[in-house]
Amino acid sequence: MKVLQERSLAPFHTFGIEVAAEHIIVAESPRELVAIWQDEQYCSLPKMVVGQGSNILFCEDYAGVIVLNRIRGVEVTETADSYLLHVGAGEDWHQLVSSTIENNMPGLENLALIPGCVGSSPIQNIGAYGVELKDVCQYVDVIELETGKQSRIAAEDCQFGYRDSVFKHAMKNTHAIVAVGLCLSKHWQPNISYGPLAKFDAEDVTPQAIFDEVCRIRQLKLPDPKVLGNAGSFFKNPVVESKLRDKLLTLYPDMPSYAMADGSYKLAAGWLIDRCGLKGYQSGGAKVHEQQALVLINHHHATAQDVLTLARHVVSSVAQKFGVSLEHEVRFMNAHQETTLAEVQS
Ligand code: FAD
Ligand code: EPU
Repeated sequence: MKVLQERSLAPFHTFGIEVAAEHIIVAESPRELVAIWQDEQYCSLPKMVVGQGSNILFCEDYAGVIVLNRIRGVEVTETADSYLLHVGAGEDWHQLVSSTIENNMPGLENLALIPGCVGSSPIQNIGAYGVELKDVCQYVDVIELETGKQSRIAAEDCQFGYRDSVFKHAMKNTHAIVAVGLCLSKHWQPNISYGPLAKFDAEDVTPQAIFDEVCRIRQLKLPDPKVLGNAGSFFKNPVVESKLRDKLLTLYPDMPSYAMADGSYKLAAGWLIDRCGLKGYQSGGAKVHEQQALVLINHHHATAQDVLTLARHVVSSVAQKFGVSLEHEVRFMNAHQETTLAEVQS
């Protein structure tokens, strides 16, 4: 393991907010992860595994150990029907997607340009442009941090849902993900169901064309964290009962909504925030992104308080106008543990 001298977390999360941790340590193997959890020096401190910090808001300095997961390695095996990828949790997600496309192993192209580590991808079951991690995930390898016991969780036991999995619940804090198994079918079918990809012809579209188009659209709409700090969609798209969706549709006939299997509807949080007139709305150095209202950005030296004040304003505006509650997708951390917008003091 490598104990870093620095304490600033600014380089290790994408919101670019100035916060610090007591210790920052790089772990390059499952054994190093467990060694940190068993080290007497750190045993009384809170500890947290971090990938690239692209889905985290540190609400204050972290009073413990940030463990940067850098477990590397990609192994590819082949069956008659599929390519099976066993990928170390610290690999970069987008680099993996690019290399599979370059090496004629399609299937991940819709998930191009999502920041973060491969090991974080199952946690919120990353999704974009009609595909979710669950569609390609075969298994997730975890290690129990207190005991060092490793186990393999089959995809069907991961409880994948919309931006959700067992890793946000029963396995949170107790286990770290050390590798992910992906299965890419050799009988590739394009997934062009999501609006902006519908222009393609399923008969002759290539994985590379989908990859390029996904990258192009994302670069137009989503701010580059290296330029403007952010953590992607700040809120989840809310799922509401059909009664509320029908009522809202009579008032706002152009409101996007997507039918769910259980009869409920997913609404577009970005549209709701946009319709509140909040694009460009600012609180201190934090701002609602002009190109995509679902993204809150660090416009100019934002503090965590600026982001929290802005997030509260967005939530209350949407609740007031539409009667819909927004839940944040971004994971909030206080000095010791995960918290929520409702819990953090204003
Ligand atoms: P981190 O932010 O480092 O960690 C997230 C959480 O997982 C934390 O609670 C952390 O403690 C925990 N964790 C991290 N690694 C491990 C591990 N190995 N074991 C156990 N727990 C761990 N998401 C989407 O789903 N779709 C998108 O289209 C999308 N677009 C985005 C665009 C931008 C510009 C940005 C900034 C973010 C976007 N996101 C998107 C969110 C983000 O990219 C994903 O959630 C990503 O999987 C986070 O990876 P990370 O390595 O940065 O995780
Ligand atoms: N919209 C607006 N105004 C806005 C933003 C969106 O009217 O400012 C409308 C769009 O016109 C569209 C609808 O809202 O009709 C949905 O917008 P978009 O297609 O951009 O997708 P999204 O719902 O805002 C979701 C994911 C993204 C993912 C994209 C593409 C969530 C919370 N977000 O965004 O994931 O990349 O779809 O599939 O589900 C993330 O999770 O961090 C993330 C970026």
